[in-house]
Amino acid sequence: MKVVLVGSGAREHAIAEQLSKSSSLYSIMEKKHPGIASLSQEVLICNPADKETVVSWCKEKGIDLAFVSPDGLLEKGVTDILASAGIKAASPSRQAARIEWDKGYARTLLHNHKVPGLPAFKVVGNADEASAFLAQHKEVVVKPLGLTGGKGVRVMGEHLHSEEDVLNYVSELLKKDKQALLEEKLDGEEFSLQAFSDGERLSVMPPVQDHKRAFVNDAGPNTGGMGSYSTGRLLPFMELKDLEGAKSIMQQTIGAMRAEGNPFRGVLYGGFMITKDGVKLIEYNARFGDPEAMNVLMVLRTQLSGILQSIADGSLIPVAFSPNCTVVKYLVPEGYPENGKKDCKVSIDSKAVWECGGKTFFGSVYEEAGEIYTTSSRAVAVAAQDASLERAEGKAECCTRAVHGPLWHRPDIGTPPLISKRTEHMRRLKR
Ligand code: AMP
Ligand code: GLY
Repeated sequence: MKVVLVGSGAREHAIAEQLSKSSSLYSIMEKKHPGIASLSQEVLICNPADKETVVSWCKEKGIDLAFVSPDGLLEKGVTDILASAGIKAASPSRQAARIEWDKGYARTLLHNHKVPGLPAFKVVGNADEASAFLAQHKEVVVKPLGLTGGKGVRVMGEHLHSEEDVLNYVSELLKKDKQALLEEKLDGEEFSLQAFSDGERLSVMPPVQDHKRAFVNDAGPNTGGMGSYSTGRLLPFMELKDLEGAKSIMQQTIGAMRAEGNPFRGVLYGGFMITKDGVKLIEYNARFGDPEAMNVLMVLRTQLSGILQSIADGSLIPVAFSPNCTVVKYLVPEGYPENGKKDCKVSIDSKAVWECGGKTFFGSVYEEAGEIYTTSSRAVAVAAQDASLERAEGKAECCTRAVHGPLWHRPDIGTPPLISKRTEHMRRLKR
């Protein structure tokens, strides 16, 4: 089977690795990604939303199945472009991906279909509406409605320190987008649940915990995600009922979308928080998480190409994972997230990575004349698995020392002190 993967980054590098095991991989990307290119039969470098170029190349190559990965390209309707040329896809249409690119749509859909787990929210169009919401809720979170690469959310008490700060940020967003989303601030522990869906059925992957804050101990601005870990079926701070609650919210969402004539086919990602009042939904993504994709794909036992084929056919097959623990850490350029230093040379000592017992995935880097350079975004992910979380973390940390360049990472991700902090936080909340 010939599968085309659209998009490039560490998440797509992990997807490409899996697809290349069981199908002939073709890929479309904007700039040459060294990792994906080396796994592909052929690569098309172009603007992936350029309909004519993409369609004629896919037809010429005889592509059987497509997977469009990144949020930006799903919003641009690249799945629809391929579908219009008769190429089956295992990723959502532009309309289905709206669950991610329009936070207002996601919340209204769940509200209308009485899906539980939504925090109190209001889409505001002026400062008075924002003040009224602030009067009802002591602490709030402010979000842009559209895609921001994970960087637009500001939380009271962390990034916003007064009502004035909130109103200033709301007014900044109103100037740009005319609308902003205000949400009650929740307290709890977060986890990501990714699931394959054929539009009707849902098959969940192991839950993962990402680390969105830039710096050690969860300080600093939100990022695309600095690293993540998973521990098989449940995370250390999680109970079975939390997982079941999240699964049920996602299943009901799939049902609501189907009922509205907007079926979701692809990977649905729920960002959840376990609070003292149960599981709450913070966001939906219409794709694999990045870095979370690497955690789950490392332990995937079913062939990914078979799963994607079954999604495209509307008859999802059973999916299995090994119960190992996984740790992923991102090495990011100096100045990330505000001002990541571009065009700096990066190199990887592959032998040292192998000796550490882990692996690396290239993120937002590009290759020129055989050398690898940074962009302003997350550069290289290191990943490892083991039966013990401590050992998986040790392997991943070892791999960070095999990646050379002006990069930094969060050494605390997946370590016992940070895990204890999380379980203790949960215990305190549930008391
Ligand atoms: P998002 O991009 O919506 O996932 O938000 C980024 C981060 O902001 C989340 O991972 C949370 O840490 C935080 N956040 C978002 N919404 C809320 C909320 N309602 N209450 C508390 N924290 C939140
Ligand atoms: N890791 C969060 C995301 O992929 O949006």
